Amino acid sequence: MKTIHAPASMTAWSQRLGREGVVIGLVPTMGALHEGHRTLIRQARLNCDALVVSIFVNPAQFGPSEDFATYPRRLSQDRTLCRKESVDVCFEPTAAAMYPERFQTVVSVPSIARRWEGESRPHHFAGVATVVTKLFGIVRPDVAWFGQKDYQQCAVVRQLAKDLNLDIRLIVRPTVRDRDGLAMSSRNVFLTAEERRLAPMFYQALLSGQRTIEHGATDAKAVQAIMEKALREEPAIRIDYLAICDPDTLEPLERIDRQAVILGAIRLGSVRLIDNVLASGKAGRIRSVKALQKGR
Ligand code: PAF
Repeated sequence: MKTIHAPASMTAWSQRLGREGVVIGLVPTMGALHEGHRTLIRQARLNCDALVVSIFVNPAQFGPSEDFATYPRRLSQDRTLCRKESVDVCFEPTAAAMYPERFQTVVSVPSIARRWEGESRPHHFAGVATVVTKLFGIVRPDVAWFGQKDYQQCAVVRQLAKDLNLDIRLIVRPTVRDRDGLAMSSRNVFLTAEERRLAPMFYQALLSGQRTIEHGATDAKAVQAIMEKALREEPAIRIDYLAICDPDTLEPLERIDRQAVILGAIRLGSVRLIDNVLASGKAGRIRSVKALQKGR
């Protein structure tokens, strides 16, 4: 496995392989790799010729009061994992190389980024969209893999790739969970033992919303109330948001008459967790069947 630090060397490597018709895959990460990343990397390994994993804790996507300084960094373990999974290149740029003096451009995806994570973390998605656009420009992948846990991030990246005519296939893989349902995240290491014990209540609440929709509920407010009630039983949990949305636009639904995504964020002590599940009610299922019959 090669380790490349300089963006220009990374691009030169990709261009050389690209000329030979090699399919290049990219798994963008901020390191502190866990089983969720490993699953993405394995999937990617099976589906491309040359695999790049980028490891870059991107300062631009953290707000001033967020955890950039304390975000877990475990470069040598990350490299070992990548080597074991037969990654071809670990791309590890420095912040100075990614954002040199007089760097100015910001990529923003205002509509999809506005709500939910965008409200709680106002600069976050501009930082994500900018760095992902840069990584795509530097690595020149044919295919890139993302995890569904960051549902809104996936929607932002899909939109920017479409709007900027980037010829890159995006693949979103299901969230990888611990045995008790907690979505894997690099930040889970910051949960105390007691918080870790309570954390699966979040996924359970989302599942109760999903089940209620699957049993025919169409009033989004009522479904939301069921999820909120489940979480409010535990005083240590603070709800940041819970929302039932259109899966493409991420606009909130009043009536659940199509497939929906339930998005949520909670705080447990100093840790903020996000998660989501898809849900299809009866009306949504009938629509999906009709769309399938029409070949859409
Ligand atoms: O999901 C992440 O780890 C990051 O947001 C990403 C996509 C690597 C951009 O920094």
